[in-house]
Amino acid sequence: MIKPSEIRSRLPQDFVLGVATSSWQIEGSSSTRGESIWDRFARIPGAIADGTTADPACDHVNRLEEDLDLIRDLGVGAYRFSVSWPRFIPEGSGSVSSVGADFYDRLIDGCLERGVDPVMTCYHWDLPQVLQEKGGWLSPDMEKWFADYAGALGERYGDRVTKVATLNEPWVSAFLGYALGIHAPGIINTPQSLEVAYRLMVASGHGIQALRQAGVKEPGIVLNLTTVRADEPGVEAARDHIDGLQNRLFTDLLAGRGVSDDIRESTSVLTDWSFVTDEGVAAAATPIEWLGINYYTPIRVAKPAPSGQATGVGQDTGGYPGCPPARLNPRPPFTTMGWEVDPSGLSDVLKETQKALPGIPLWVTENGAAYNDLVVDGNVFDPDRVSYLSGHLLAAADAIDAGVDLRGYFCWSLMDNLEWAEGREKTFGIVYVNPETMQRIPKESYRFFQAVATSS
Ligand code: FCB
Repeated sequence: MIKPSEIRSRLPQDFVLGVATSSWQIEGSSSTRGESIWDRFARIPGAIADGTTADPACDHVNRLEEDLDLIRDLGVGAYRFSVSWPRFIPEGSGSVSSVGADFYDRLIDGCLERGVDPVMTCYHWDLPQVLQEKGGWLSPDMEKWFADYAGALGERYGDRVTKVATLNEPWVSAFLGYALGIHAPGIINTPQSLEVAYRLMVASGHGIQALRQAGVKEPGIVLNLTTVRADEPGVEAARDHIDGLQNRLFTDLLAGRGVSDDIRESTSVLTDWSFVTDEGVAAAATPIEWLGINYYTPIRVAKPAPSGQATGVGQDTGGYPGCPPARLNPRPPFTTMGWEVDPSGLSDVLKETQKALPGIPLWVTENGAAYNDLVVDGNVFDPDRVSYLSGHLLAAADAIDAGVDLRGYFCWSLMDNLEWAEGREKTFGIVYVNPETMQRIPKESYRFFQAVATSS
């Protein structure tokens, strides 16, 4: 196994290492904020694998200082967190909650006091339920509600936070939320899912403008892009369709190329895209200062099999409305999400994205793995996660060697948390969280990441 110091030496001196989390997955204390679509969704029987709900999650709201100490002791330069919209503006639009806003003041100041750069995400899926009831991401008013929210965040925190992402993974909000229906709001309506994807990107553009106006220096966005591979001949059309909806729909909109003809054609039975306007396309192309990529696994496309398809969490062609008959066919080794482990997919997607969006600095804003950990005498051993992280850090270094302007890497996640529809069953943390006592125990992978981050 390669030494942590050798991994660090493959990365540039000023390369930033960090850890990431999101509000709904860790905060708990749902009674001190407005309701989000995930609170509502989690109450539907069977929606969350183990029936967990928003509380206590990791009880992060009450354990903020302890968690920030864990980040400081890890020796990383940055912490990527998200703001809970219903904590900041409980009614979705209108007045800011002073209790909610104070919490993020303490979080941000606590990072800065510890020498950690806070990187903020405005929207990591926990939409205020009141806005969902007014149409959510399908409402033409969403671009204004979102811009007002992002602007208010910029006003409040822009003096201390340099990098702010508007959205986390709009593909997931649109296609897991509105096509497969396995994420909040749990809707299955493929024409709507395509419209939601577009409207998210338009709203993001308005958010970028509002953030900039409020003085935020580096607004950006986080996408879950990945490399899409044809596993066998004869699946090229499905491969291109999946690549279109997973990657190009988003990078094309950011680049001002609008919605491409091939995507319009392969989805023509579902929608005529008449909701796309010149103003919307222009807004979606508002310049960003950086692009975050969340990468976990490549997508491998194969011919349909009679035995059904979904082999990994979310790995279903139903997430790509209009897809020609095909199946997603990940190969071992797998994480407990059923996701194929392939670090070369990370260097490939970084190279592909740099070509699709030249001149934009890239960040890996999430990368990590779910495994079942072994707790022995108060120690947590997770050799598979160490090997996953090590392989992907080296793949990031390979991409840099190949000329990609990659500035940093955030490990997902600081700690075990609520893995959305998978509940507590899938653990990605480098810190173990005891589900009963909430005790935090740094895992072997925490020590590994610490050794990488602190070796010069
Ligand atoms: C990403 C999400 C993050 C986490 C990881 C495993 O899609 O952004 O919140 O759930 O997957």
